[in-house]
Amino acid sequence: MSGWHLQKLAGGLEVASPRPPRPHAGEPSRGRMRSSCVLLTALVALAAYYIYIPLPSSVSDPWKLMLLDAVFRSAQQVSNLIHFLGLSHHLLALNFIIVSFGKKSAWSSAQVKVTDTDFDGVEVRVFEGFPKPEEPLKRSVVYIHGGGWALASAKIRYYDELCTAMAEELNAVIVSIEYRLVPKVHFPAQIHDVVRATKYFLQPEVLQKYSVDPGRIGISGDSAGGNLAAVLSQQFNQDANLKNKFKVQALIYPVLQALDFNTPSYQQNVNTPILPRYVMVKYWVDYFKGSYDFVQAMIINNHTSLDVGEAVALRARLNWTLLLPASITKNYKPVVQTTGSARIIQEIPQLLDVRSAPLIADQEVLQHLPKTYILTCEHDVLRDDGIMYAKRLESAGVEVTLDHFEDGFHGCMIFTSWPTNFSVGIRTRNSYIKWLDQNL
Ligand SMILES: *[C@@H]1O[C@H](CO)[C@@H](O)[C@H](O)[C@H]1NC(C)=O
Ligand SMILES: *[C@@H]1O[C@H](CO)[C@@H](O)[C@H](O)[C@H]1NC(C)=O
Ligand SMILES: *[C@@H]1O[C@H](CO)[C@@H](O)[C@H](O)[C@H]1NC(C)=O
Repeated sequence: MSGWHLQKLAGGLEVASPRPPRPHAGEPSRGRMRSSCVLLTALVALAAYYIYIPLPSSVSDPWKLMLLDAVFRSAQQVSNLIHFLGLSHHLLALNFIIVSFGKKSAWSSAQVKVTDTDFDGVEVRVFEGFPKPEEPLKRSVVYIHGGGWALASAKIRYYDELCTAMAEELNAVIVSIEYRLVPKVHFPAQIHDVVRATKYFLQPEVLQKYSVDPGRIGISGDSAGGNLAAVLSQQFNQDANLKNKFKVQALIYPVLQALDFNTPSYQQNVNTPILPRYVMVKYWVDYFKGSYDFVQAMIINNHTSLDVGEAVALRARLNWTLLLPASITKNYKPVVQTTGSARIIQEIPQLLDVRSAPLIADQEVLQHLPKTYILTCEHDVLRDDGIMYAKRLESAGVEVTLDHFEDGFHGCMIFTSWPTNFSVGIRTRNSYIKWLDQNL
C-alpha cells in the first residue's frame, strides 16, 4: 500500500498499475494537460498576487522594484518562520540571508586598495583610491551603511561597490564601518562603535598613515547609517577636542525621528517598498529592545499624544505644518491624539532621545554643523524626515543642499549594478558623488 502511495505521489496523476489500461488512450494525457494548466495558472496567479503591489507610475523601473520587493519580503517571511520555530532571531536569520548572498572579501584593483582592519576594536573596511598627482594628500569620507541598525554589512557587494566608486572617483580614502547590529547590541552601542572607529581614524598619525588631508574629511551614511552619521556630526560638534573635524556631512534618505509616524511622506508611503511604515516602526522598536506590542499604537502616534508631557515640547520642534512646503502638506492632516498610551514612552524613553532622533536637537547644536547634503526620495516614508532636517539646518544658518528624486525609492542608491540596477540608483549615486567632489 505504501508503495502505491509513493508511486502516486511521484508520478502525479499518471499512476496506472495495478489498474487495467484505460479505454481511451488520449484521455489521461488530456486530463494531465488540463490539470497541469490549472496548476500552472494557479501558480502564476499566486506568484503574480505575491509579487504585484500597486506602485505609482512615477517610480523608477516599477517592475524591477516589485521583484526586488518580493524577494526581500520572502526573505523576511522565511526569517519570521525561523524565528517562530525558535531556531534563531528573525533579524539574525534575515541578515544571514543578506550577507550570504552578497559578501565580498577584501580585494584590490589598479584603482583602489581594499583592506579589512580594525580601528580601536571596531571592524572597518578601508578603500584607498590613488591620489591625484597634484594633490599628495587625499580627501576622505567615513561611511556608515544602512539596514535599520540591524542588517547589512560594509562587506556586502552593494556597499563595497558604492565605496569603491567613491574612492575611485574622488581619489579618496573611504572608511566603511562594520558596527555591531541588533539583536546582538542595541541603542546606543551602534553609536559607540561608530564614534570609536571615527575618533581613532581622526588621530593625526592615523590620517598621516593613510595620506589623508585633515581639513577635507566628510561623514556620511544612508538610512539608519544616515541617522548615525547625523548623530555623530552633532556629538563631535559639541566636543571641544573634535570641533570642526568634518568639512561636510552627507545624509542619504536618513532616519531622523521617531515622534511622528504620520508625516505626509509616512502617510503617502504606508505600503511602499522597500520600507513600509510598519517595518520602519519595528526597526525603531528593535533598536531599543522594545516590545512589538507597541507597534500598532505607535503607528497612530499614540506614543506622542497630547497627554504625554515629555513629548509635547519636542513635537512642536518638528511641527511639519511649519517645516514642510505647502505643496507637500496640502493633502494631509496632522495626526495628533489627545489621549494615547503614556506607557510607551515610560518603557522606551529613548524614542525621545536626541541621540536617536537628531531632528529634535536644539538650535544651538544645529547652527555649528558643517555644510550638509541631504538626499531624499519621493517614494519613501523618510522623505519628510530629510526635508524637515534640511529646513531646520537652513534656519540655523547651515549651508544645505537638498537633492530630491521624484522617481526615487528608499534604498535606491545602492542598487546600481545588474540584476538590481535601477536608473534612479545610478542617478542618485552620481549626484551624491558629484556633490562630494565639489564640496569636500
Ligand atoms: C503647528 O503649527 C501650527 C501653525 O502655527 C499650529 O496651529 C499647531 O498647533 C502647531 N502644532 C504643534 C503640535 O505644535
Ligand atoms: C491609543 O490610545 C487610546 C487612548 O488611550 C486607546 O483607546 C487606543 O486603544 C490606543 N490605540 C492602540 C492601537 O493602541
Ligand atoms: C541594467 O543592466 C542591464 C545589463 O547591463 C541593461 O541591459 C539594463 O538596461 C539596465 N537597466 C537599467 C534600468 O539601468
